[in-house]
Amino acid sequence: MPLQRDFKDIVRLAEPMAPHTWFALGGPAEFFATPRSVEELSALVKRARDEELPIRLLGGGSNILVNDQGVPGLVVQLSAPIFSGIAVDGSRVKAGAGAKLGHVVSTSVREGLAGLETLVGIPGTVGGALRGNAGGRGGDVGQWTCSATVMTRTGDIMRRERQDMVFAYRTSSLDELVILEAQFQLEQDDPSELVKRMQKLWILKKASQPLSHQSAGCIFKNPRGMSAGMLIDQAGLKGARVGGAEVSDRHANFIVAHPGAKSSEVLTLIEMIKQKISERLGVELETEIEIW
Ligand code: EPU
Repeated sequence: MPLQRDFKDIVRLAEPMAPHTWFALGGPAEFFATPRSVEELSALVKRARDEELPIRLLGGGSNILVNDQGVPGLVVQLSAPIFSGIAVDGSRVKAGAGAKLGHVVSTSVREGLAGLETLVGIPGTVGGALRGNAGGRGGDVGQWTCSATVMTRTGDIMRRERQDMVFAYRTSSLDELVILEAQFQLEQDDPSELVKRMQKLWILKKASQPLSHQSAGCIFKNPRGMSAGMLIDQAGLKGARVGGAEVSDRHANFIVAHPGAKSSEVLTLIEMIKQKISERLGVELETEIEIW
């Protein structure tokens, strides 16, 4: 295949996706690329476009479920060092899309910069966090984002300023093919206070979510004014199981995959939960995770 021949240093064929995801499930990606520079990424994007290959960007793999059949087309991961730098300048923090959100949070806190500490414990990369406006009760990543650099489907680079971006509950207007980097405008604060605040939030999160299990965080978005976890719990679905996929008994909006589980079992469990919640409570749940 010409794509693999011309980009042989960075493209792999039939790359297993399970090790790249928190669910650790699913089949291989037809092509998997880890470009080493923005130029290489742009060339790859243009080439995939010419060959009409679908492209998907993989962040930290913590909010996706890959089908057992695998992913057709090209999966790109910005794991090369050039895409994961973090730099602090006054009260601004600049981070590459491939940087771990957790590293950006800890760097900011260490520098005495407040805002992102409420995101403690959220897995994934800066790119993934921005795309889905990751957050929780304490706030979301969008509210601190003052600019972003993106690459379009034609391989061109654009900069988005605060006024060009819209962030809402688990969604953002940054829908170009690639998010390359972002800048966060934070607030000066006392580092030791910040550390305390972050630790408290971390303890609360660990107590209420099954973080050490194979899962992908919350499966469903919260319906307006309600908690999906509470609804699933009240419907008596904690512990409900399809094969190796089980509704967590710690937090009902998490599905835990046991050894030997298949993606199809997680998908069947998701459908079962949706149907039960719709029948019993008249609420249509919508998945928060992406299904590839
Ligand atoms: N609850 C239950 N049973 C459960 C789970 C929750 O009764 O099994 C109750 C809790 O006791 C609480 C209420 O439901 O009264 C809300 O629960 P929680 O505070 O855990 O928040 P959530 O709405 O379920 C949201 C985000 C989480 C985020 C937390 C904390 C969504 C879908 N979920 O959960 O985000 O960590 O707030 O900020 O928005 C994620 O998106 O992947 C995620 C984990």
